[in-house]
Amino acid sequence: MSTTLIAALDVSSMDDAFAIVDRLGDSVTWYKVGKQLFTRFGPAVVEGLKSRGKRVFLDMKFHDIPNTVGQAVRSAAAIGADLCNVHASGGPAMLRAAAEASAETGIVVTAVTVLTSMDQGELKAIGLEATPAEQVVRLATLTRDCGLAGVVCSALEIPLVKSACGDDFVLVVPGIRPAGSAKGDQKRVMTPAEAARAGAQFIVVGRPIIAAEDPVAAANAVNAEIQGA
Ligand code: C5P
Repeated sequence: MSTTLIAALDVSSMDDAFAIVDRLGDSVTWYKVGKQLFTRFGPAVVEGLKSRGKRVFLDMKFHDIPNTVGQAVRSAAAIGADLCNVHASGGPAMLRAAAEASAETGIVVTAVTVLTSMDQGELKAIGLEATPAEQVVRLATLTRDCGLAGVVCSALEIPLVKSACGDDFVLVVPGIRPAGSAKGDQKRVMTPAEAARAGAQFIVVGRPIIAAEDPVAAANAVNAEIQGA
């Protein structure tokens, strides 16, 4: 199975976004558009990417009642996103509504299990006694059983989720740091090659590409690492 690079377009203006996309050219096909850019500029960001032949992961992490989430997934498909996500903790009815919208429109939907910013204390504070790992497996299994394509998970959770949900389950993995690059605020990181070998279908890389002095060289290096794995 092959691994695909998604560059996280974490910038705060349309000009910055498309300057980097145009500079990266054919080195990057997939982009992640998140809340920062989408909340301000909306579907125009996705349209701009699609008109350049790019593919879009709309990272809005929908979490609401089933009808609203189902319709939000349809809206994501309608503006041209290829991949989007929801929070698995929205529960089975919500996940099934998202799966139905996915089947109807063709957009791929994954679910966030436990935010990597949450530790055991955070889970306890919202009434959960499970360890983060137990909760990840529980929600990944629920996601698969409700018919969604996969989950967003940290690199270190890949083996856990793979053994619970099988090899075909799509894993979108952020927290990737090419060998030798700055970690920034990411603590639990893996290199592109390690994530590819572990079986990630998608790796999400932001600052190591977007903030690089030479973004094209940085993206090409990530692609080479993936291919070499
Ligand atoms: O710049 P960096 O490579 O750290 O960016 C990673 C991207 O993936 C960011 O957009 C970040 O919000 C997102 N992300 C993450 N860790 C998660 C989930 C999403 O870093 N667990």
